Amino acid sequence: MIVSIVSRLIIKVLLKRKKKQLLSKAIVAKNQDELFCKRASTITLVDGSTPNDIIIGNKVWMWGRLNSQSGGKISIGNNTQIGYGCAINAVESVSIGNYVMFGPYVTIDDNNNHPVSPAFRKYMRIMGDVDSSRWKHSAHAPVVVGDNCWIGRNVSIMKGVTIGENCVIAANSVVTKSIPANCIVAGNPAKVVKTNIDTIPAPTSCEGYNEFVKQQTENGTTK
Ligand SMILES: CC(C)(COP(=O)(O)OP(=O)(O)OC[C@H]1O[C@@H](n2cnc3c(N)ncnc32)[C@H](O)[C@@H]1OP(=O)(O)O)[C@@H](O)C(=O)NCCC(=O)NCCS
Repeated sequence: MIVSIVSRLIIKVLLKRKKKQLLSKAIVAKNQDELFCKRASTITLVDGSTPNDIIIGNKVWMWGRLNSQSGGKISIGNNTQIGYGCAINAVESVSIGNYVMFGPYVTIDDNNNHPVSPAFRKYMRIMGDVDSSRWKHSAHAPVVVGDNCWIGRNVSIMKGVTIGENCVIAANSVVTKSIPANCIVAGNPAKVVKTNIDTIPAPTSCEGYNEFVKQQTENGTTK
């Protein structure tokens, strides 16, 4: 009993400290009390990046790692969940919308990490220095994830990809090209397997959801 109370207290203190660390490295919108973070979450700012480069919306669940190099921007919309083991790596810009759900171990890179050039890569290995391994030397392009997307576990999203709203990215997909709204994409490289998923009816088995829709209809706020 005492052990359980003490361990719960320790976890509470550690999470509070974690949240303080995150808040010192990002701009968190409006209500900071609504940032829910797990111990695995981190923000890393290197090579001139500052807390101004990271924007976190309201009611964000943070279980993953945000890494910014050389002023790379990362913004996360409201009510979005960054799952366990996820990594978002920006040297230019990664913008994630509202209501986005990440499964575990998703990676988003807005850059190639290293140049493709064999001569440069050999130089990197010879020098073994920090500067030559920075992402800024590699090809990079912004990534945008639209509102209300669901990114399945182990997905990789590559540089220059824009994902339209409401999309589902199937587990283990590698997304190399942009995707229109309301699609399911799957595979490596990811291809569209379903379209117009916004017309698929919602399940009726969840009482809470049914009540939510009823209230929205009564309030005239149905979307
Ligand atoms: C995409 C998903 C939601 C299924 O959606 P669905 O509407 O039921 O789609 P279907 O099962 O009808 O599959 C449609 C097609 O995509 C293919 N497909 C589905 N998931 C796939 C995957 N991960 N990789 C490759 N192909 C896949 C199916 O084989 C099917 O192909 P076909 O039309 O040639 O038969 C599910 O497969 C998935 O990936 N869920 C993510 C689970 C997850 O990562 N959870 C983490 C916690 S949030």
